[in-house]
Amino acid sequence: MSEREPIGVIGIGWVGLVTAACFAERGHRVIAMDIDRAKIEGLDGGEVQIYEPKLADLVRGNSERLRFTTAMSDVLAEARLLFCCVDTPPTYSGDADLSQVRAVVAGIGDDGERALVMKSTVPAGTGQAIRRDKPGLAYVSCPEFLREGSAVDDFLGPDRVVIGADPGDEWASAAVAEIYGPLGGELVHTDVASAEMIKLASNAFLATKISFANEIANVCDEVGADVDEVARGMGLDKRIGPSFLKAGIGYGGSCFPKDVSALKMLAGNTGYHFQLLNAVIEVNELQKRRVIAKLNKHLGSLVGKRIALLGLAFKPHTDDMREASSLVLAARLQGEGASVVAYDPVAIGPASSLLPGIEMGASAAETLDGADAAVLVTEWPEFADLDWRAVAERMASPLLVDGRNFLDADALREAGLTYEGIGRPSKSGSPLTGKVAQG
Ligand code: UDX
Repeated sequence: MSEREPIGVIGIGWVGLVTAACFAERGHRVIAMDIDRAKIEGLDGGEVQIYEPKLADLVRGNSERLRFTTAMSDVLAEARLLFCCVDTPPTYSGDADLSQVRAVVAGIGDDGERALVMKSTVPAGTGQAIRRDKPGLAYVSCPEFLREGSAVDDFLGPDRVVIGADPGDEWASAAVAEIYGPLGGELVHTDVASAEMIKLASNAFLATKISFANEIANVCDEVGADVDEVARGMGLDKRIGPSFLKAGIGYGGSCFPKDVSALKMLAGNTGYHFQLLNAVIEVNELQKRRVIAKLNKHLGSLVGKRIALLGLAFKPHTDDMREASSLVLAARLQGEGASVVAYDPVAIGPASSLLPGIEMGASAAETLDGADAAVLVTEWPEFADLDWRAVAERMASPLLVDGRNFLDADALREAGLTYEGIGRPSKSGSPLTGKVAQG
């Protein structure tokens, strides 16, 4: 592969490391910088602390093109394009904390032609402010749309790449287009403010779709319809599309909750009341708690009951616990007087400190032993492969609430479990299709 333009990546968290590793995989020399010395030393030795499929192999396999450093001067010596991937966590006011972005900008000298390429999620207007404070630095907004668990594939095969730049920075947007072009996907050239909005609006819309599906599921619970059938029928309409209509116990993760609230705040700060997003957030919060009523329906009071949680991470194929529905659910169960035991194939380590007083099981089967009910929180494939007949025999009462509508309801009932989904008829599968296993 021919040598391409060297790239600087600043902030080696999850986005930064995926970006650095994938550009290296595509033949670029990458100088990846982070202020965390221990992290950089670990990465230098090929140690990848983040759980993300394919990432460690990419980091190790491209070590000759991937250089890690704690010195900004190393990045500035080689790269024109500086990909900013630092964290922008929400502040108490709900605005994004831009202090790390500011520190990056302050560390870039005025010498030479350089561009800051913003990957971090920032409020609309950030690019303009940076451009004003640092006129010599070109600015490109190039938001990331990576999903945890499939970030490497998402990066190397994007649906679209958004490249926002304002007049005067054409060279920088052309350089970014050149390095993303070979990955495929439509290049969306636009202005900076619109690019920033595309990111927030996309995530807020996907979160809205999920909350909508969850409300439909809640109505299905009342009228005996099956939300998966409803979503299938809706999704075949090309104007609606099938994705992100999966009902469950709410969305979590590092992006949706943060971005929905950031967009709401951004609008609010301008005096505009974004009513729809208030509902999206509220539906999501209530959805995490709906499991309690489903348990009450079968068990009555939960005081002294042993409830097993299957899965803790905010979604499968990640150990990320940020805004995971399990956090709220576990605390609510404890609040109801239940004792909670939990198992997750990879998230037990990160979850332990966040879930005080919760027993962690060594396996799914062990966790279910003697439980009064199980709640499937994260749709890890291994839960579909459990010997549910044996599980039903070993549980104190064989009740399963499937918080992701992941398992085959009819097969579970046949195995002797009482099955409750979210917006799935509680007695039998759909009369029209007969259900097949999901996932
Ligand atoms: C998301 C966006 O998809 C990505 O483009 C963005 O840049 C970062 O945020 P991610 O947070 O990794 O990615 O996860 P995603 O797969 O989008 O799922 C987010 C949450 O929504 C999960 O908790 C998931 O369980 C939930 N979800 C998703 C549903 O409840 N129903 C669905 O139909 C889809």
